[in-house]
Amino acid sequence: MFDGVGALVLAAGKGTRMHSEAPKVLRTILGEPMLAYVFDALRPLCPDRAHAVVGHGASAVRRAFPDMAEGFVEQTEQLGTGHALQVAWPALVSRGYEHVLVVNGDVPLVTADILAGFLSEALAVQADVAFASIELDDPGAYGRVVRAPSGVCIVEAKDYDTMRHGPATGEINAGIYLLRLATVGPLLPLLRNDNRGREFYITDLVGLAGKAGLRTRAVNRGRDGALLGVNSPRELVAAEECLRRGIVDGLFDQGVLVRCPEQARIGPRVAVAAGAVVAGPCEIYGDTSIGTGARVASQVWIRDCGLEENCEILPFCHLEGARVGPGCKVGPFARLRPGAVLEQEARVGNFVEVKKSVLRRGVKAGHLSYLGDADVGAGANIGAGTITCNYDGKNKHATIIGEEAFIGSNTALVAPVTIGRKALVGAGSVITHDVPEGMLAVGRGRQTNLRRKP
Ligand code: UD1
Ligand code: CA
Repeated sequence: MFDGVGALVLAAGKGTRMHSEAPKVLRTILGEPMLAYVFDALRPLCPDRAHAVVGHGASAVRRAFPDMAEGFVEQTEQLGTGHALQVAWPALVSRGYEHVLVVNGDVPLVTADILAGFLSEALAVQADVAFASIELDDPGAYGRVVRAPSGVCIVEAKDYDTMRHGPATGEINAGIYLLRLATVGPLLPLLRNDNRGREFYITDLVGLAGKAGLRTRAVNRGRDGALLGVNSPRELVAAEECLRRGIVDGLFDQGVLVRCPEQARIGPRVAVAAGAVVAGPCEIYGDTSIGTGARVASQVWIRDCGLEENCEILPFCHLEGARVGPGCKVGPFARLRPGAVLEQEARVGNFVEVKKSVLRRGVKAGHLSYLGDADVGAGANIGAGTITCNYDGKNKHATIIGEEAFIGSNTALVAPVTIGRKALVGAGSVITHDVPEGMLAVGRGRQTNLRRKP
């Protein structure tokens, strides 16, 4: 916790180098928007003190972070990082912070530890303007750190002139700054856009502060790859790969068996218990938990699911927002959609889709079915090709199937409809009326066998 320090994330840019209309900070890394990683790193340091400048795709960014939206400031025209800071400044001043920690929205690998280390050093030397720097073999498009006898400054790649600034050293600006509000405020109106980018650069504050006799500091983080910015698809995938490897390594340490680990893509919020087995290639994202003894085969896509102990997910399944109870077996080729709840030892087989339905203990739906808005009682058997006709074109309706009912193959259950306990539905039926407990319902055309014409 750093008292008196507010945080500001710069997230208004378009991300031109991504060649996409979507705001760059919402592009995902292991299923989470890039910006979420930056907010997560800030949360332990400045709880309730995080602000962000949004602009390009602002409404989408607000929607993605409803809890943070209070601290958002809009930069309607994106005239550069310095301009973004100018736009946010009054909000920061009104909150009475002594310092503001400014972080670019496109450094998703940054962690709370890295930021805390930077803050400690910058605060210890009582800097007015501090920034984090790293060393690269090739400084590329990054802002370059120039340490002259007159003081340190940052020169953007576009404006770098070897004649004037000397050969580039490889020390670059990571896009993380600590600014003292009282002393930096008067410098903001001095920012100019008379540069190659025609933009107002936050980085110019370093040189301006030096000239004004303020204390400046470059906090060198060595070769820390966690501070690389993500500007292009290639950089995004590189950051994703780095994070992915770290997560898989962590799972090994916790006693999870990850087969084909180089192709297991598991998000940062996924919790896997020791003793579970997960096989790549797979994608497991969001708020997913996997219990001990659970086995997740390869070729699955999972998001926001609870997989309880000893359940088994066979290959080629797509699971989202579902709960799979202990000992259940799902797939191969099954789809569980949001609100699918499988209680203990239920079985969902190939080409079965389940949406917003509860399958109670021991239910079997082995083949080729759609169960939507249904409550299926314990021990019921759902024959191949059973369809709940839950939608009448305007509204969704419920299907209730009692315990130990048996639904014959290729049955259409036209909802709303209730099938009683231990009832039996003949194969090929179209069921439009309730079936009472223990009864046999047959709703299909009768077969006639006619003599063939010779
Ligand atoms: C910036 C730095 C560069 C540094 C690099 C580190 C400047 C001028 N340059 O360059 O020195 O090495 O980061 O990764 O700051 N943004 C806004 N409003 C704007 C423009 C940008 O909010 O008008 C946001 C972007 O959404 C992004 C961040 O600021 O999250 C940085 O902008 P970007 O265009 O990526 O800067 P770089 O060229 O990478
Ligand atoms: Ca950048």
